[in-house]
Amino acid sequence: MAGLCRNLHPHFSTIVHVPLILLCTLPSPTIAATNINNPSVTEKSSVDRQALLSFKLQLSNDPLGALASWRNGSANFCNWQGITCSKKHTNRVIALDLRSKGLVGQIALSVSNLSFLTTIDLSDNHLHSAIPDAIGGLKRLRKLNLSMNSLDGMIPAALSSLSSLEEISLWNNLLTGEIPSNLSRCSNLKFIHFSSNKLQGRIPPWIGTLPALQVLNLSGNNFVGNIPDSLGTTPSLTFVNLGQNYLTGGIPHNITNSQYLQYLVLPYNSLSGRIPPELFNSSSLLVLDLKRNNFTGVIPSVNTVSSPLFSLTLSDNSLSGSIPISLANFSSLSHFTLILQANRFEGPIPASLVNASSLEVLDLGLNSFHRFIPRLGTLTMLKELDIGVNHLEKQDWSSLFYLTNCSNLVKLLLDDNKFSKIGLPLGVFSLLSLLCILRFYPSFLTSIACHLDLDL
Ligand SMILES: *[C@@H]1O[C@H](CO)[C@@H](O)[C@H](O)[C@H]1NC(C)=O
Ligand SMILES: *[C@@H]1O[C@H](CO)[C@@H](O)[C@H](O)[C@H]1NC(C)=O
Ligand SMILES: *[C@@H]1O[C@H](CO)[C@@H](O)[C@H](O)[C@H]1NC(C)=O
Ligand SMILES: *[C@@H]1O[C@H](CO)[C@@H](O)[C@H](O)[C@H]1NC(C)=O
Ligand SMILES: *[C@@H]1O[C@H](CO)[C@@H](O)[C@H](O)[C@H]1NC(C)=O
Ligand SMILES: *[C@@H]1O[C@H](CO)[C@@H](O)[C@H](O)[C@H]1NC(C)=O
Ligand SMILES: *[C@@H]1O[C@H](CO)[C@@H](O)[C@H](O)[C@H]1NC(C)=O
Ligand SMILES: *[C@@H]1O[C@H](CO)[C@@H](O)[C@H](O)[C@H]1NC(C)=O
Ligand SMILES: *[C@@H]1O[C@H](CO)[C@@H](O)[C@H](O)[C@H]1NC(C)=O
Ligand SMILES: *[C@@H]1O[C@H](CO)[C@@H](O)[C@H](O)[C@H]1NC(C)=O
Ligand SMILES: *[C@@H]1O[C@H](CO)[C@@H](O)[C@H](O)[C@H]1NC(C)=O
Repeated sequence: MAGLCRNLHPHFSTIVHVPLILLCTLPSPTIAATNINNPSVTEKSSVDRQALLSFKLQLSNDPLGALASWRNGSANFCNWQGITCSKKHTNRVIALDLRSKGLVGQIALSVSNLSFLTTIDLSDNHLHSAIPDAIGGLKRLRKLNLSMNSLDGMIPAALSSLSSLEEISLWNNLLTGEIPSNLSRCSNLKFIHFSSNKLQGRIPPWIGTLPALQVLNLSGNNFVGNIPDSLGTTPSLTFVNLGQNYLTGGIPHNITNSQYLQYLVLPYNSLSGRIPPELFNSSSLLVLDLKRNNFTGVIPSVNTVSSPLFSLTLSDNSLSGSIPISLANFSSLSHFTLILQANRFEGPIPASLVNASSLEVLDLGLNSFHRFIPRLGTLTMLKELDIGVNHLEKQDWSSLFYLTNCSNLVKLLLDDNKFSKIGLPLGVFSLLSLLCILRFYPSFLTSIACHLDLDL
């Protein structure tokens, strides 16, 4: 229900105040809607009016009454809810914005008659059946947002005629089939968001060469094959999410040199090979997520001082070696997150991490780290510390005692290491009111209402 009530979108305030230019230029407001003085306007406006009424007819339910104003008798359809008309071409619809209206039904073919449309936003409704080919006739369309519906069938190849298209957002539907190769003709595309569908086949290489592409989100589909080598060859690329697919092969070279890339998010695939060192030397990359793949080799050690990387997630791979001391230098920005869980890392936890003062999440669990825990008491932002299931030893308990400084800590996992309980500083447990997850001593199990598990 919360979603259905999101109809007070800022767009609507602009939509309902569409200037009534036509009304002012005609002799009488009462005959404005029929436009009898201007045959060409009459003909065109009635096409749009009829198209909108046909659109309404294809809907089987309008629970919020969003289209209550859409009546044949009502004078100026430019005032109908969700409609924006052109200022230049009077009585031509340029935007159809009916997001989050709970609408049920199909998208009518008649939308193709709204030939001045630049924006269609029908997202977050209950629209079903296929996306009509007829949308391909809208030569002026720049934004198409049909995300969060139940649309099925294939992405129509006819959309390739949308030569002005900049944003196509079809995420969270039931779309099947491959990405049509003809879409390569939409050379103005900046934003492709097809995530959470049932798309299949390979990621077409032409996607990497779209000259204006900024955002590519194909996560949560059934794509197979390699990440195309071409991805990253256009300089505009900033965001890539190909997670939750069945991709294989490595991270292609071109993407590692991509000058403005900020997000490279590839988790839950079967990608393999080494992590390209260039990614750790990027002056743009903010987030790298390679969780649950088959990457091997080491974390590259790069001496860059300018990297803005603040979220590094490499968990559930087969990475090995030790943590490069230089990683602590990635901490200049806030909210630093370092997740290396479930790999084959070894060696000591680098003491340089005590200088990573913006570290919020440090997850090194399920590896083979040994020796001692650094004194992490300087990490006052730390919210989560997981060093469970390693080969760490207790030197003395002082390193743990210093954690009392970490007043934001809500999760602390220390289980399954080579500590012994003797001399455990009870001061640590002054933290307990803040801890939500603590895997530590079995005897504390009963006293904490959280998920616990443990053996030292
Ligand atoms: C709207 O009204 C016109 C003129 O009265 C009529 O021709 C047309 O069929 C009506 N359309 C709908 C969808 O009722
Ligand atoms: C588009 O408009 C024309 C002229 O009014 C009409 O004949 C045709 O049926 C409309 N097409 C659709 C798909 O509604
Ligand atoms: C599309 O619609 C969804 C849901 O209303 C919204 O979250 C998103 O910002 C819109 N735009 C794009 C480009 O996805
Ligand atoms: C797709 O492209 C091919 C050749 O480039 C063309 O023959 C075909 O008509 C196009 N299909 C559509 C729906 O545009
Ligand atoms: C990409 O898609 C995923 C899954 O729908 C979503 O969580 C993420 O926010 C999307 N990213 C962008 C930039 O739209
Ligand atoms: C990688 O990018 C270069 C230009 O930066 C381009 O010449 C080359 O073809 C690209 N590689 C592939 C496989 O597309
Ligand atoms: C990793 O590779 C091995 C063999 O090379 C394979 O059996 C396994 O399924 C792969 N794991 C993933 C998550 O792709
Ligand atoms: C890191 O980047 C700098 C400047 O962009 C470049 O000169 C250097 O060769 C790069 N080093 C590595 C290891 O990629
Ligand atoms: C970290 O950055 C400093 C400069 O801020 C530099 O002097 C130092 O060598 C870097 N350390 C590593 C291990 O890269
Ligand atoms: C932390 O940084 C300071 C200043 O750059 C440096 O002197 C010190 O050695 C660093 N500590 C560790 C453990 O790397
Ligand atoms: C606690 O934090 C303060 C301020 O960051 C620092 O000066 C102090 O050394 C820390 N104490 C411990 C025990 O780490």
